[in-house]
This record gives sequence, C-alpha cells and structure tokens, in this order.
Amino acid sequence: MTTVAIDRLTKRFGQIEAVSDLSFSAKPGRVTAFLGPNGSGKTTTLRMLVGLADPTSGTATIDGRRYCEFEQPFHTVGVLLDGGFHPGRRARDHLRILATSVGVGNDRIDAALEFGEIGYAASRRVGGFSTGMKQRLGLAAAMLTDPPVLILDEPLNGLDPEGIQWLRQTLRNLADEGRTVLLSSHVLAETEQIADDVVIISGGKLRVEASMNELTGRLTPSVRVRTPQAAEAGKALIDAGHVVAAGDGPDDFIVEAAASEVGELLGRAGIVLHELTPQQKRLESLYFQLVDPAAPPPDDPGLAPATTSPEGS
Ligand SMILES: Nc1ncnc2c1ncn2[C@@H]1O[C@H](COP(=O)(O)OP(=O)(O)OP(=O)(O)O)[C@@H](O)[C@H]1O
Ligand SMILES: [Mg+2]
Repeated sequence: MTTVAIDRLTKRFGQIEAVSDLSFSAKPGRVTAFLGPNGSGKTTTLRMLVGLADPTSGTATIDGRRYCEFEQPFHTVGVLLDGGFHPGRRARDHLRILATSVGVGNDRIDAALEFGEIGYAASRRVGGFSTGMKQRLGLAAAMLTDPPVLILDEPLNGLDPEGIQWLRQTLRNLADEGRTVLLSSHVLAETEQIADDVVIISGGKLRVEASMNELTGRLTPSVRVRTPQAAEAGKALIDAGHVVAAGDGPDDFIVEAAASEVGELLGRAGIVLHELTPQQKRLESLYFQLVDPAAPPPDDPGLAPATTSPEGS
C-alpha cells in the first residue's frame, strides 16, 4: 500500500512562506486532486515530495520514506513536472534516454508511447510538439516504469476536451488498479469527474481535505423558477424560509432548495410555472469561497466551512 503523506510541511523562500505547516495524504486506489490558486504552493509541495526541493521543516514521504531514501525512486513514483524536454530531441529518444537512466527496457518505451497515445509522433522532435502533445509525452515518461504512485503537476493543462476525457479515464483506470494518483490543478470543476479525494490549499495552507462526495454534498441545491407570477411565487418561498435571489429578468429568480420541494410548494400556492430548472452544482463558487484569502482558515479542514452562498444573479 503506497500512501503519499505530507506531514507538517513548511517551505520558506527568504521572506515568502510558500508552504505552511501543510498536512494531507493521498491513498492507494484513489485519485487525489491537489487544488489551489496560482502561487498557492502546489508545485513547491510536489517538488519537495520528489526530492527536487528540501523542506524547511516537516516531511513529505511515499510509503513512509522520503524520496531520497529510495534506492530506485523511479520504480515507485512516476512524476510529471514542468519542462525537462530537449527541443531538438525526438520523442522516442527522450523516452529512450530516460529508460536507460532508470534501467527499463525498450518494451516499456513502446508501452509508454501507447499509454500517452503519442506513438504517431514518436519520431518527431519535441520542439515541434503542441502543449498537449508535450503533456502526453510527459505522462508517457511518468509511466515508463509502470510505477504504483503517480505525482502529476497540472496534467490537464493544455489538453483538448478529448485529451481531458482520455486522461480522466486513464487516471481512473490506474487508480482502480490500486495505484496512488496525486494530481494538481487550479480548476476544481475540471477534476470533479476524476477525483475521489480533494485537497485544497491557499497561501500554502490547507483549507480542505475531503472526499469529492463530501464536498459536493455541501453544495446547496438551487433551482431557477420562471413564472408569470414571480412576485407572488417569491413571497411564498421566502415565507416558507427559503433564500431567493434575482434571476435574469422580471419573470424568473433562483431559489436555494430542491426542485421537488419548490414545485410542490408553488403548486400548493396555485402558482403557474413556466420553468423549474435545477442549477448546475456550483462547485467553482464553493472553491472560490474556500480559497478566499480574506476568510479565516477552517478549524477543521475536513468539515468547515459548512455553508455556501451561491450567487443568484
Ligand atoms: N525557487 C523559488 N524561489 C523563490 N520563490 C519561489 C520559488 N518557487 C516558488 N516560489 C514561490 O512560492 C510560492 C508558491 O509557488 P508554487 O509554484 O508552488 O505555486 P503553485 O500553487 O504551483 O502555482 P501555479 O498554480 O501558478 O502553478 C509563490 O509565491 C512562488 O513565487
Ligand atoms: Mg504550479
């Protein structure tokens, strides 16, 4: 069982505390999304995890060991971090050099190219690759040793919708095989369909560590109501204790409640309905609330903050 554990990790660059007393874990068989805005400390954390930066204090371990304590870390951890491509080198040669340095055979190169679905460009120079193609080659490189742990910094960046779908399915399959998959992103909604667990940081500090189910369960359902009797309908809902916000026009509004409840209540009040549409779960607005630097960090990052206030207009 290869768990990734971040324990009271801190990293200072001079005056800047990039990572502050951060603790969380990523577990085998699960995809963990590591989220936070630009500059929140994601890459710094992942770099410490794979021995590219030294913690100021605290530890980052894989299977209880620091990266530098592994004799052959590449066989345990596949890593995708920015850059590292020689533009004049062909994709296959890039992988061949890596394969030689980590001691795996040519068969793994073909498997990795196949994994990244980048075999068609194997003999092209990386300098001519698109962002998405480089991302796929990076993912192929991370899978060279068929490792039980994958640490991927922004793997969704630069992928087209088809590529995102491919990566989602691929990471799901890898986790289902029992691997530990930790990927960073700054778009919570983008990881909604991939991640089992979510870790959100802001300003180097932990804001939330929860399962995706726990997180989405915290979202208040809301419904768009369109009716020629908007004022009457709004009053009936407010009288029943619901929060109502303005919609796009005079005949519609948004109410924080489940569609069934709203429909029944307005039906009893004899209101004519032209539309009753459950709103998309507003994960993104929850995310913005969680990473708001003005908000105090939650006492219990697994539970707080307990409420959301979806914007209605
Ligand atoms: N080598 C360094 N020297 C000085 N400051 C650094 C260094 N590396 C990172 N930082 C600072 O640490 C903070 C966290 O940066 P980091 O790259 O970890 O953020 P991130 O969450 O990965 O952001 P992004 O979403 O933009 O990739 C930033 O303030 C950054 O400027
Ligand atoms: Mg980064």
